[in-house]
Amino acid sequence: MLPHTSREEARGQAREHAGNDARETSGTSRAYAASLDARDPLAGFRDRFRLPPGVVYLDGNSLGALPDDVPAVVDDVVHRQWGTDLIRSWNTHDWWNAPTRVGDAIAPLIGAAPGQVVCGDSTSVHLFNALVAALRARSGRSVLLADPDTFPTDAYLADSAARLCGAEVRRVPAAEAAEVLRAEGTGVAVAAYNHVDYRTGELRDVAGITAAAHDTGALVLWDVCHTVGAVPVDADALDLDFVVGCTYKYLSGGPGSPAFLYVARRLQAGFDPALTGWHGHADPFAMEPAYRPADGIARARIGTPPLLGMLALEAALGVFGEAGITAVRAKSLALTDLFITCADELGLAVATPRPHARRGSQVAVRHPEAHAVMAALVDRGVIGDVRPPDILRFGFNALYVSFADVVAAAEALGDVLASGAHRDPKYTVRNTVT
Ligand SMILES: Cc1ncc(COP(=O)(O)O)c(C=O)c1O
Repeated sequence: MLPHTSREEARGQAREHAGNDARETSGTSRAYAASLDARDPLAGFRDRFRLPPGVVYLDGNSLGALPDDVPAVVDDVVHRQWGTDLIRSWNTHDWWNAPTRVGDAIAPLIGAAPGQVVCGDSTSVHLFNALVAALRARSGRSVLLADPDTFPTDAYLADSAARLCGAEVRRVPAAEAAEVLRAEGTGVAVAAYNHVDYRTGELRDVAGITAAAHDTGALVLWDVCHTVGAVPVDADALDLDFVVGCTYKYLSGGPGSPAFLYVARRLQAGFDPALTGWHGHADPFAMEPAYRPADGIARARIGTPPLLGMLALEAALGVFGEAGITAVRAKSLALTDLFITCADELGLAVATPRPHARRGSQVAVRHPEAHAVMAALVDRGVIGDVRPPDILRFGFNALYVSFADVVAAAEALGDVLASGAHRDPKYTVRNTVT
């Protein structure tokens, strides 16, 4: 089934596949997209981002677009705070408290009350620290339940944390995790899963896996890199234990912006991570010879934070706070509905689940020449990315992607496939980033 399927046939198939979802969108014309944009309550937010003209940016799930609020803040941090105020800025500009302050700004986006999120370091570092802390907190148990389809860094760090703590990693697909947790009884120390499958965009059952883990006394760690800023997380309401996430994707914190870690308040007093740096000490400037953990979430701090990135992120977060995650999620689902309908019309194999409850904020379609197709699309100004072996990934940030963008991207994709433009030898060179 490829672009040769007639439009009418494909429409019929799309309706059959989509079931109830078909009622939630209809039509794939430019006029219909324009009418959706005209009714979009978030449409005004697009001007709060700096997007180059002529580009349809569907890779905000890898590197978010630049928020308009950021450059002036970075300029101020560099020239005034660093250049003029120098080391005094740790106090006068409250650099010292930035990790917990920015953590509190991220908290509402993951459904967390203040005092439970710290910002700094990378997702990988937080993953490692939280996994070791979880294994230490359940030291009588030997199994780390992990997602076989997880992002590679999560897999590598699970192996390393388990090795360090004498545990065994058992890889169980998310769909079977609750059942396995119940069957294992008290064997599992921690279940570590991604909120969304980074390839297909499939959303996992956070409530079900968490409840099953807690029923057996196990802890959960959720990696929300691919959902924070696009899909509600509900950390407090679902009683999550640990949540890690990056900020350079949907949150537009900038390349390499610092990640965050949520530690539920009830676990903080016993939080015993692998990396016990001086910024997590109870009295850092006493320069004591031995580690004494700070109270609260501050003990999850490690060393000196990357302040340029963190203060850029703080500026970026404003726009997300204003929009509200509920409105963002509603539009994201409408955008992905429309793109899925377009992909169905093109006869493409959509790898992303159709029910809203199982879909993140991206759409993945399979194509045997995914790399070349994406390279040809990027040349046409439509930027998405690819993941092996055959996935074309399109991410939808509701704050700056319009319905017109969706239709334009689908038209460009249809044009590439119908014309065979991707077979041009210049597109066979593999690009490691997109
Ligand atoms: C689910 C997930 N976890 C972790 C990471 C990356 O971790 P880090 O920020 O340490 O590079 C990514 C990056 O794409 C990711 O998708």
